Amino acid sequence: PGIASYDPGFTNTASTRSAVTYIDGEKGILEYRGYPIEQLAEKSNFLEVAYLLIHGELPSQSQYDSWVHDITFHTFVHENVKSLMQGFRYDAHPMGMLLSAVGGLSTFYPEARNIHDAETRHLQIVRMIAKMPTLGAWSFRHAQGKPYVYPDNDLGYAENFLAMLFKMSEPKYAADPRLVKALEVLFILHADHEQNCSTNAVRSVGSSQVDPYSAVSAGIGALYGPLHGGANEAVLKMLRRIGDVSNVPAFIEGVKAGNERLMGFGHRVYKNYDPRATIIKKATDDVFEVTGVNPLLKIAVELEQIALEDEYFVKRKLYPNVDFYSGLIYEALQFPPEMFTVLFAIPRTAGWLAQWLELVNDSEQKIARPKQIYTGDRGLVFPSREERW
Ligand code: CMC
Repeated sequence: PGIASYDPGFTNTASTRSAVTYIDGEKGILEYRGYPIEQLAEKSNFLEVAYLLIHGELPSQSQYDSWVHDITFHTFVHENVKSLMQGFRYDAHPMGMLLSAVGGLSTFYPEARNIHDAETRHLQIVRMIAKMPTLGAWSFRHAQGKPYVYPDNDLGYAENFLAMLFKMSEPKYAADPRLVKALEVLFILHADHEQNCSTNAVRSVGSSQVDPYSAVSAGIGALYGPLHGGANEAVLKMLRRIGDVSNVPAFIEGVKAGNERLMGFGHRVYKNYDPRATIIKKATDDVFEVTGVNPLLKIAVELEQIALEDEYFVKRKLYPNVDFYSGLIYEALQFPPEMFTVLFAIPRTAGWLAQWLELVNDSEQKIARPKQIYTGDRGLVFPSREERW
C-alpha cells in the first residue's frame, strides 16, 4: 500500500536538506559552508576547517584559540580503550580496530546519549575530533607490533598524528614542516563530501537518536568498504602491475577495449574535473621533495597525459579523481595500504559530525525508514511438517 518510487542507491532521491557542503559536478566546484576548497586548502588548516564545518562560520581569534585548546586537551583516551585495542589480533585491519574503538567510546561517555543538550553534544564532537588521530595511530602501531605512543600536546594536530605514528624513542619528534602541511591539505580535502555513503550511514543511524560515537562508528563501517574508501589502494596496485612507462600505451588500449578500468579516473558527480585532484597533485610534489620521488609517479603522470588527450576518456568526461594521487603520497609517507582508509576516516570525522549536528538540530528530521517494493510471496498457508516431509 502507498506509492513508493524505486531508487536503489539514492541516485535521484534527496535524503536531507543540508547547508554544509556544496558540489557542482559539471563545473568541478566543491565548497564547505560556501568557501571553495582551493581557498581552504591554501589559506586554512584542518582544525579551522573543522570549526567551519561544525559551526557554519569561520572562528574569531579567541574562538579559534579555545577550539584548538579544547581539542588538544582531549587527545588522550582512557587506558581501558588502549587495552581494548591491544586485545586485537596482531594482524587486525586498522579500520576494524578504529570502528570498534570509536563505538566503544560511547560506553566511556554515557552522557553522550543526551543528544538534546547542546553543551553535551559539543563536548562529544570535540572529544571525537581530538581522539581520532590517537586511535588511528595506535591501530597502525598495533599492526607493526610497536608500543603505542601517547599524544604530545605541544604539537599541532597533524604533527601530533605523525609523531604518534612514527616516533621511535624518547626525544621529541620533529616532522618536516612540508609533510605536516601536505597532511593538513589532505585532511582538508577529505573533511566532507556531502551525502556520500558513510555520511548517509551516520545520518541514518543518527536519526534513531543514538549517541554520536555509535553513529560515527557506522560511518567508519561504510568507509571500510572497497567501493567507498578503497580506490587509492587499487590505483597503486594498477600502477605496480603496469610496471614501466613503456607499458602505458598498451594498458590504455586494454582499458579502451573494456578489459578493465583506469583506476583513479572518473567520478559519479564530477564530470569536468575533481577539484581535489588538482590540489592533491601539488601536494604530491611537496611530499616527494622530502621523501624522494615514488617511482610509480612517472607511470601515473604518463597515464594521465595520455588519457586526458584520448577521445575515449574525453568523450566520457573521465578525469583524474582525488584517489589518483593520494595513494602515491600515502605510500611515500610509508603507510601500508590498509592505513589509507584510516587516513580518510580521521578528517571525515569533522564532516560526519557537522552533518550529525545538522540532523539533530533539524526539527523536520524523522527516523530514516525507507520504503521498499516487496517482491516476495503473500498470504501462504503454513503446511504441517507431515505435509512437507
Ligand atoms: N576507466 C575506463 N572507463 C571508465 C572509467 C574508468 N575509470 N570510469 C567510467 N568509465 C566508462 C564506463 O565504462 C562507461 O563507458 P560506456 O558509456 O562506454 O559504457 C562510462 O565511462 C560511464 O561510466 P559509469 O560507470 O556509468 O560512471 P559512474 O558515474 O557510474 O562511475 C566511477 C563512477 C567512479 C565508479 C567510475 O568512474 C570508476 O569506476 N572509476 C574508477 C574507480 C575510482 O577511481 N573510484 C574512485 C572514485 S572517487 C572517490 C570519492 O569521491 O570518494
